[in-house]
Amino acid sequence: MQYIPPANLRGHDIEPLLAARGLTADWFNLHDFDPHSTANVARNAYAETMAKVPFHYRTAVASLPQLRTWIDGLVAVAREKQAERGGPIASIINGPSLLLLGVCGVGKTHEAYGAMRELAVSGVYAQWQVTTAADLYAALRPRYGVDSEAEFRKYRDARLLFVDDLGAERKPTEFTEEVNFRLINHRYEHHMPTLLTSNVEPKQLAERLGDRVTSRLAEMCERIPMKGNDRRRRAAA
Ligand SMILES: Nc1ncnc2c1ncn2[C@@H]1O[C@H](COP(=O)(O)OP(=O)(O)OP(=O)(O)O)[C@@H](O)[C@H]1O
Ligand SMILES: [Mg+2]
Repeated sequence: MQYIPPANLRGHDIEPLLAARGLTADWFNLHDFDPHSTANVARNAYAETMAKVPFHYRTAVASLPQLRTWIDGLVAVAREKQAERGGPIASIINGPSLLLLGVCGVGKTHEAYGAMRELAVSGVYAQWQVTTAADLYAALRPRYGVDSEAEFRKYRDARLLFVDDLGAERKPTEFTEEVNFRLINHRYEHHMPTLLTSNVEPKQLAERLGDRVTSRLAEMCERIPMKGNDRRRRAAA
């Protein structure tokens, strides 16, 4: 792992993330020249994570206690695996999944990016990918010069995957159903942690995603219903 010297963190809103994990900015900026120190792992993970977080969510901090518990679980499993196998750093390989449900604008994407930012500063490394379901289908449409299977594996095999807006398309097609099934089935079978959001009502999930996907999600995910209304409209009012 590359050694990243401490940097100025002003404007990053990183303190609340560190505080949520009982850590401090002094710890994060520890200049110990050790590429495997947990602080250096956190600096690497944070830099990689912020390259994936959209500008709008760059200061997001998760507020739901279930997300904190989920991160605690992932961190604990990663540390256990490291203790079993040895290895210089703890990284995420297996763990539980989460499904955030709620109406449009309630804050699902904000919570999810907040969780990814918090996980980044934990000192445990996560190789992760993010996509919206719609972008995933678009990226996988067979077309000349694109290896759709390689693109699919990038998401399927990510150690941690965040899929935003699952089931948002009005009319599922055979193609979207097949992508959903192959993706969810693989992650289900291999216990690969996946963070999903959807604004589909719980009662309609099976109709939108099909029974086989919904059944797997029921077993692999803790469901977190988010209450409230559209924060975008509230902000505009
Ligand atoms: N806890 C929060 N604190 C401050 N702003 C928030 C919070 N949660 C959400 N927001 C803001 O509210 C707006 C809606 O949040 P977000 O984009 O996460 O909604 P969503 O549930 O993902 O909506 P959609 O289903 O349309 O994708 C955004 O501008 C976001 O930055
Ligand atoms: Mg969203």
